[in-house]
Order: sequence, then C-alpha cells, then structure tokens
Amino acid sequence: MKIDEIKDMILEDQKKVKDLNSLNDLKVKYLGKKGLISELNQEIRNIPNEEKKDFGKKVNELKNIFNDFYESKKNELETINLNEKLKSEAIDISLPAYNIKVGAPNILEKLIEEVESVCMSMGYDVVDGPEIEEDKYNFEMLNIPKGHPARDAQDTFYLEGEEILLRSQTSPVQVRTMLKGKGKVPIRMICPGKTYRRDDDDATHSHQFMQIEGLLVDKDISLSDLKGTLDIICKKLFGDEVETRFRPSYYQFTEPSVEGDITCFHCHGKGCNICKNTGWITVVGAGVVHPNVLRMSGYDPEEWSGFAFGFGAERLAMLKYGIDDLRVFYNTDLRETRVFDRWEAR
Ligand code: DAH
Repeated sequence: MKIDEIKDMILEDQKKVKDLNSLNDLKVKYLGKKGLISELNQEIRNIPNEEKKDFGKKVNELKNIFNDFYESKKNELETINLNEKLKSEAIDISLPAYNIKVGAPNILEKLIEEVESVCMSMGYDVVDGPEIEEDKYNFEMLNIPKGHPARDAQDTFYLEGEEILLRSQTSPVQVRTMLKGKGKVPIRMICPGKTYRRDDDDATHSHQFMQIEGLLVDKDISLSDLKGTLDIICKKLFGDEVETRFRPSYYQFTEPSVEGDITCFHCHGKGCNICKNTGWITVVGAGVVHPNVLRMSGYDPEEWSGFAFGFGAERLAMLKYGIDDLRVFYNTDLRETRVFDRWEAR
C-alpha cells in the first residue's frame, strides 16, 4: 500500500475513535507486529538505495503523525474517563446520615454500680448469693422461725416442699457471709441481686425485683454508724443537698430497726406528688443486727455487733430517673429501652 494511502487512512480512522479500546485497536492496526506502518519498515530493504533515504523519512513522518494523534487522543480519553469516575463516586454530603443505634447501659444496672462503687470506696466487698435458697437461710437464721407471721408478708415461691425456695429477699446473703467469715471481723459486704415474691405485676410490683443488701460486723458498731453510712450512700445517689432521717420500724433480724427517708430531691422538702406532699421519701430498711442472728451465724453478740440494710434497687432507680412504671426495666422491646438512652442523657 502506498504511503499516501496509509496517511489518508489514518486521518479517516482518527475520526472513528470513541474510546480507549478502539484507540488501542488502531495502534495494533498501524504499529503492531503486522501493522501497516511496521510493514513499510520491512519494505525498506527492497527499496533501491537512492530512494531509501526519502522513503525512510516518509515512513517516519507517518509514524509521528500516528503517534502524535495516539498520545493526544489517549490523554483526552483518559481525562474523560477519570472525570466520569469522579462524578459517579462523589459523596453527596447533603444526604441525611443513617441513624446508628448504639447501646446504652441499663439504668438499673447503672444504679447498682453506683451503690457498689460508693460502698467499695468505704471498704465493702460486693458478694453474690444463690437465687434458689434454703428456707434455713432465707428465714430461720434471720430469726424468722417456721409459722412466724412475718413470713406471710413475703409471699414466697416454694420449689420443693417447704425447704427450697426462690429467695424472697437478699438478707440470706448476710447469713451466708457470716458463716463463711467463721467469726472473723470486720465483715463489710453488699449484695445486689434478684429476689422473688408471689406478687401480681403492676406499675410498682413485680414477681421478680432486685434488692441491694448490706452488712457490716465489727466491734462496737451502733445505730449511728448505720446512719452515717446510709447518709453517705444517699447523698452519693441523690446529691449532697439531700438530707436523711430514720424512723423506727420493725424487722425480725434487726433490733432496733429503722426505715430511712431522704428529703424529696424533687421539691426539696416542700411537698409534691413524688413525696406525696410529705417532703420525705422512704428508700431503705435497716437496723442493728439482732443478737440471735449473730449468734446463729457464729458471731458472739457479746463481743461483736453490726448493722444491715436493704435497698429496693428498682425503687431507687425509679426515684432517681423519674420512672413511674417498674416494668420498663424488664421490657425487651427496643423502642422502650431507647427511652432509657434519653434518661441516661439527663
Ligand atoms: N429484707 C428486707 C425486706 O425485704 C429489707 C431489709 C430490712 C434488709 C432491714 C435489711 C435490713 O438488711 O436490715 O423487706
């Protein structure tokens, strides 16, 4: 084929190139092993010497024409490709973000941890006890013998006959801790845990609820030690401005027994619907450990004395976070537990 024909052909072909693939095909067509320009190079051998120089020059020109076109077209096409890619991969920062659901601690758990941390700072151990309990520990060794009317107040779930039950209070852990202590002092423990009673479930009652038990046994422990300790715990939970007071009460396993109130953190004592217009809210049952209880668990009441207390964990959390229905703590509906996130944020 003549050089001029090839040149015309290149100019024609140039117009048809639409993408990098067709551009590459062209390169093969002209400069590939059997390409048209490559073949011209082969022909040089057969050209008479005096024409060689001129022929070679023309072939080179042809090659340059093609290469110039090839490079500039390649650049152009690559730029187009890149721009398209950038456009399709661009992030629209004006789109609303996905709502990522994050977990939050259950506030009942959080409250228990707060009580644990203040008690640990005063040297208390956090201990555990079984939820399936013996009558002996749940009642008898707490000075509540069989047939005693105090048992009726705790409508108990019995599992096997009259001896095995679901603990109706965390107080049996007092007994277990003293038995383990084998007469050694001091004992300083708290036990947060589940308890069970045959209650109908409503906004303020549940067949399963949590208590936080506390026990301290040492030398010369008196009611004033108990008052000081509970005062510290309540201030930690509800704020330093909260005041405490103690009213006489009755429990089989403490003597004297008290109920502890705090000034209403909502109205600060003025009276509102949270404190039922009394200015005070009851938060704890407590007392000085009854000598019988000490004795039955191997501590000589002549030598040692102690105090004990029991908080209702849900009640504390409900007061602290302004929750009016205890059932939300045990609800597994995520829409309900989301609400806790908001309480958390307060
Ligand atoms: N166990 C009691 C109850 O369930 C609460 C309680 C009262 C615990 C006085 C105590 C205490 O340790 O000293 O009603």
